[in-house]
Amino acid sequence: MNILITGNAGYLGPVLIRHLRRSLPQHRYIGFDSGYFAHVLTGASRLPETRCDVQHWGDLRDFPYDLLNGIDVVVHLAAISNDPMGQRFAAVTETINDTASRALAVEARRRGVRAFILASSCSIYGQAAGAPRSESSPLNPLTAYARSKVRMEEALQCLADDQFVVTSLRFATACGMSDRLRLDLVLNDFVACAMSSGEITILSDGTPWRPLIDVNDMSLAIEWAIRRQPGVAGPFLAVNVGKTNHQVIDLAKAVAAAIPATRISVNAAAAPDKRSYQVDFSLFQSMAPDHQPQVSLRQSIEQLRSGMQRIKFADSEFRSSDYMRLKVLERHVQTHQLTDDLRWTGVQ
Ligand SMILES: NC(=O)c1ccc[n+]([C@@H]2O[C@H](COP(=O)([O-])OP(=O)(O)OC[C@H]3O[C@@H](n4cnc5c(N)ncnc54)[C@H](O)[C@@H]3O)[C@@H](O)[C@H]2O)c1
Repeated sequence: MNILITGNAGYLGPVLIRHLRRSLPQHRYIGFDSGYFAHVLTGASRLPETRCDVQHWGDLRDFPYDLLNGIDVVVHLAAISNDPMGQRFAAVTETINDTASRALAVEARRRGVRAFILASSCSIYGQAAGAPRSESSPLNPLTAYARSKVRMEEALQCLADDQFVVTSLRFATACGMSDRLRLDLVLNDFVACAMSSGEITILSDGTPWRPLIDVNDMSLAIEWAIRRQPGVAGPFLAVNVGKTNHQVIDLAKAVAAAIPATRISVNAAAAPDKRSYQVDFSLFQSMAPDHQPQVSLRQSIEQLRSGMQRIKFADSEFRSSDYMRLKVLERHVQTHQLTDDLRWTGVQ
């Protein structure tokens, strides 16, 4: 099979391609990415994208559709991929995550691609007090990012049939080590705080709930979706994928327990965090018993810690560094490398 992975030069991409090379070695992998963060590597021994058979650099908004000829499966990761970037670049987020992504799916179906996998997000449940949200719970997308994922899911639902099997994986908040590490994620941020300054500063009062999933387990779920046949759950499936729901304060305590002499400071005066939700993962548990998350919270922390030790990470100012996706995009725009609508310019 030929498998196209869009957005493969991001945080998840390098972990995914290593996983797929091990678990589905018989396939051919083609990467496609705009390279917004391609210069940000974390102690990698080789460019991660060289693990693909072919790598294309380009913008999803100008996607060369002939690349879809002969492709069997599209794994669609390319996106403006979090709330802060979505807020700063709201119109672009809609264009990339919804309009261009939808056009890719329409064309993929037309050209005989048999499966389309979307990296969606549990953030589409928004602020959700009470019982954990299941797939049949009402959606409450509060941000441009979450709204774009909802619209893309809706479009895919209309396209899916027995010849075009769609799986939307509603991922929990990612965590864990990657050749392209991000520190704009709650657990990764806490480990970076502990390693660089010995103090975890929680930006909320610590009470919000966050479901988490390690990037290795996201890859395992994508492998399951690649293998999925329409007989399992029908041509369109949207499913929550994660391991455990945690309160933010408990994540900080787990990091402090793993990294000795770490202090925790809580912002008791913080405005209530709107993004608090628990998610029910039982549908995925029942459907994919052999592809359940394997990595414990402790292991994620340990892998982050050893990965950061390897690169001698000690930057206490990391919240304005290249490990924050929004900062990277803003710097590219300020230096005129990217236009305001995030297209590369020829500026040196
Ligand atoms: N990290 C998380 O917590 C999380 C959780 C749930 C879902 N997801 C989803 O998983 C996917 C991968 O996440 P990630 O953490 O690797 O994100 P990332 O931002 O690190 O990587 C996304 C990649 O997409 C590329 N991209 C963006 N716009 C593009 C365009 N117009 N054309 C071509 N490429 C473009 C970027 O260059 C980047 O390499 C995203 O769709 C994201 O929304 C992530």
